[in-house]
Amino acid sequence: RPLVIAVDGPSGSGKSSVSKEVARRLGLEYLDTGAMYRAATWSVIESGVDLEDAVKVAEHVRNLDLTMATDPSAPGVWVAGHDVNEAIRETRISTVVSKVATNLDVRAELLKRQRELIAAGRDGVHQGCVAEGRDITTVVAPDADVRILLTASEEARLARRSKELHGNADAASVEATRDQIVRRDSDDSTVSNFEVAADGVLHLDSSALDFEQTVDAVLAAINR
Ligand code: CDP
Repeated sequence: RPLVIAVDGPSGSGKSSVSKEVARRLGLEYLDTGAMYRAATWSVIESGVDLEDAVKVAEHVRNLDLTMATDPSAPGVWVAGHDVNEAIRETRISTVVSKVATNLDVRAELLKRQRELIAAGRDGVHQGCVAEGRDITTVVAPDADVRILLTASEEARLARRSKELHGNADAASVEATRDQIVRRDSDDSTVSNFEVAADGVLHLDSSALDFEQTVDAVLAAINR
């Protein structure tokens, strides 16, 4: 049976980079479910569908031609054959993705696809998968072999995301990042609880850990 590792956490907790590295070291697939919500949002906007029209948004996502590459050394996302890896990280997507992700019909559709991707593997060869997001430990894969909630203090998360977005963590950059991170987490938390670990989920606080130490802590939890 393929090994399934579920990792949840808020923005800037390091869950994407850490999950990808863990998958690479263990020879597992890597599924970035946030990229699926971002790609769905990109496509809704690109198609001119009104973001406020929940029924049309859900219908658009049900028909979405979405391809996920789960090789942790070359992860990727395509919409109708169009490479959207960079476009989905733009601020114009980050500011509205929660609106699409809190649409329960959208979640039902992507949940189905996420479970298929976690089960499928790549090229039919399947050792297992590290899947990360907001609701993997609780909804997508509650029966995963290892379930981890990766958190960090707001200060640490803001500094990390500020460095990613602005190249540094000076006061102005941190403030520019704050609105995005804090507001998005608060919007997202209306549908998924990723602040408190559910029963049986290991809570790992990475505030005082660097990247390598966090990877090691996750690997230790898996080997336990
Ligand atoms: O940028 P960040 O790492 O915080 O987020 P992400 O993992 O790229 O996810 C982007 C957005 O997708 C989140 O803000 C949520 O609105 C949504 N999402 C979700 O609702 N459920 C998931 N399992 C993953 C992401």
